[in-house]
Amino acid sequence: MKLTDWKRVRDDFPALRRRINGNPVVYLDSACMALKPRQVIDAMNVYYEQYPACGGRSIHTFGKEVSEAYALAREKMARFINASRAEECIWTRNATEAINIVARSLKIPKGSKIVTTSLEHHSGSLPFVERAHRDGLRIEVVEARPDGTFDIEDWKAAIDSTTSLVSVVHSSNVTGTVVSLREIVEIAHDRGALVLSDDAQYAPHHPLDVQAFDVDFSALSVHKMCGPSGMGLLYGKLEHLESMDMFLTGGDTVADVRFEDGRIIPEYLPPPEKFEAGLQNYAGAIGAGAAADYLSSIGMKEIEKRERSLLSRALDALKNMNHVHILGTDDIRLRTGLVAFTIDTVGSAHDVATFLNDEYAVMVRSGAHCANPFHYQRGIPPSKGTARASFYLYNNEHDVDTFLEALRALIEASS
Ligand SMILES: Cc1ncc(COP(=O)(O)O)c(C=O)c1O
Repeated sequence: MKLTDWKRVRDDFPALRRRINGNPVVYLDSACMALKPRQVIDAMNVYYEQYPACGGRSIHTFGKEVSEAYALAREKMARFINASRAEECIWTRNATEAINIVARSLKIPKGSKIVTTSLEHHSGSLPFVERAHRDGLRIEVVEARPDGTFDIEDWKAAIDSTTSLVSVVHSSNVTGTVVSLREIVEIAHDRGALVLSDDAQYAPHHPLDVQAFDVDFSALSVHKMCGPSGMGLLYGKLEHLESMDMFLTGGDTVADVRFEDGRIIPEYLPPPEKFEAGLQNYAGAIGAGAAADYLSSIGMKEIEKRERSLLSRALDALKNMNHVHILGTDDIRLRTGLVAFTIDTVGSAHDVATFLNDEYAVMVRSGAHCANPFHYQRGIPPSKGTARASFYLYNNEHDVDTFLEALRALIEASS
């Protein structure tokens, strides 16, 4: 059995060496942005120091090195999510851009229906709401239960033969709930609909096998996976990517552009180039490949287990704390390593986050987490919001205990 040295993992993250107001950093905001290990920073620095040129075009040494490193990074990411080929992986700026590519470029029959949920991050729903406005499509919303789980019967009722696409958050950034993706995909495919899985919160914390889940598209936030900021990924089955309309066009998307009879006629390249117009974030992609290597070297199952144990430590204590109300199911097997909550003696979640940061250097996120609909559904005005602590591979028991100690102090001060 492999035993991970979590102390050594922690040492890989330079930002954790900082102290704020004399306190060691307790970073519990990885669901927003993960910290970066030395290995990712180094890989990007090598690019900037050794061959900071553009890929795909220049045939000089630097150009070839960039092209090779860029292609290798894509292969690493394809392996990480078990895509059947690297061409199915498109680099984007973030998960939001990945979802927008699908929402804008997928050919969707007029009058058809897109199914999504009340638990989506705004990035998983709004691109489709806009597409629906533009093209006269219908949107049907499957409502999450108050604990963030779903009744599979609701999916069966919502997805019908007029449904063209299902956009579903695989793991919620508010409740941490993981949906039964395989079942949803089966229902959708049976009825002729495609599925886009928002894996922004799933991919960093669980083993993601896009072939096993059989999703048509998956959107990833590489920056939540220890990768560089400004990096995301769109996975799409090749047949879909090939048949989609162009998203951004211009340099690097074409094999040739002819000029005939006064007309400019493009001959577009296949995916992935089709969707990667202009010079790219080469350092970002190389850093993303290094992040995939880094997470794989530890093992996603190990990471999942570690986070569950930290979450369980936090939940056990939070459940017994007066005035604290937790969002999400009690079934830890259905959760990713985060917990959002309200405290009824404190006016708003921002007050919680400010106290924790200023007094204990405990960094949590506060607000509605770009998931206003679910907050409204739960009767929590976004202006009050929820505080959210999220755990990752570099957190430890001491982080959890400091967070709990800070909360107890806040509750005592505010009661
Ligand atoms: C569930 C979920 N989907 C989508 C996004 C958007 O990700 P990005 O910031 O990479 O666009 C986030 C970001 O927090 C998220 O949590």
